[in-house]
Parts: sequence; structure tokens; C-alpha cells
Amino acid sequence: MEGVLNAVDVNAAGPLRLVQILLAHLLAAPDPIIINVTSRLGSLAAQASGTFADLNTSYAYKISKAAQNMLTIALAQDLQGRVRCWAVHPGKLATDMGQADASKDPRIAAAELRELVESGDRTSPRFCSLGEADLA
Ligand SMILES: NC(=O)c1ccc[n+]([C@@H]2O[C@H](COP(=O)([O-])OP(=O)(O)OC[C@H]3O[C@@H](n4cnc5c(N)ncnc54)[C@H](OP(=O)(O)O)[C@@H]3O)[C@@H](O)[C@H]2O)c1
Repeated sequence: MEGVLNAVDVNAAGPLRLVQILLAHLLAAPDPIIINVTSRLGSLAAQASGTFADLNTSYAYKISKAAQNMLTIALAQDLQGRVRCWAVHPGKLATDMGQADASKDPRIAAAELRELVESGDRTSPRFCSLGEADLA
């Protein structure tokens, strides 16, 4: 239980705290965007359909990333027309946190994210998967 609450604190409340602190600066910026780094594993639709049933992922991670996705939606609705809000799944990155099959270089994800932001897409909220088709 402690792990679930800690993950929600870090992955959902953490980004909200950051937005609260930065909001005045975001609203004063020329083309502000909030990007929450989410995970395909936080997608309710994908999880409900069993897409990742073969992956061993903690309740804490799945619950906290789903909560973060709802935060992105809530922020997008509140800040509609003023700040774009996206949830971005970076791909299966070869980092300490990655799954066993993760092999993508984080530098590639960073370049893809930059390209996506610079594309000027005004959709908000948006759930993006870098280098793959977007998830629902
Ligand atoms: N790797 C993937 O395949 C993948 C896929 C989808 C989404 N993501 C997301 O991408 C983001 C970055 O992950 P990464 O793959 O780059 O992993 P990473 O290299 O292992 O980095 C994870 C970071 O999170 C910090 N962290 C971990 N637990 C924390 C806690 N309880 N409180 C505060 N900070 C904590 C770590 O801090 P320390 O360095 O101090 O430990 C580290 O800086 C995460 O939001 C992850 O969910 C990753």
C-alpha cells in the first residue's frame, strides 16, 4: 500500500505540484506546453484489453501512471486555449526503469519528442507514443 501511495505522490501529485508552482510563468510564455512523461502501461484501454498482460508491472506503477493521465486531461481542460497538455509515452527505453525487452536509446526519444513539439500540433489533451502509433 505504501508503494502505491508513494508512486501516486511521485507520478501524479508531483507533476501537479510542479504545474502549480510554474503556472504563472507558463501563462506568460509565448507557446507553453506541459508534457507529462507517461507510460503505455498507464493506458486504461490498452490494459483493459489485455495488451500488456504478459508484462510483470506493479499495481503502483500502473495506477500512478493512469492517475497521471487523468491529470493531463484535467489540466488540458482547465487550460484549454492557453497551455497545451500532453501525455507522452517515450517508448521502451534502455534505462534502469525499462522492461527486459527495452532497447531504445533515450537520446532517440528526446529527439523524437523535440520534433513532435516543434510540429506545432495544437491537440490538447493528447496521448502520444514516440516512434509508435498513439495509444487510446
Ligand atoms: N524506460 C522505459 O521503457 C519507460 C517507458 C515508459 C515510460 N517511462 C517513463 O519515463 C520516465 C523516466 O524513466 P526512465 O526510463 O528514464 O528511468 P530512469 O533512467 O531509471 O530514471 C528514473 C528517474 O526517476 C527517479 N525516481 C525513481 N523513483 C523515484 C521516487 N520514488 N521519487 C522521486 N524520483 C524517483 C530516479 O531518481 P534517482 O536517479 O535519484 O534514483 C530517476 O531520476 C518515468 O516517468 C518512466 O515512468 C519509461
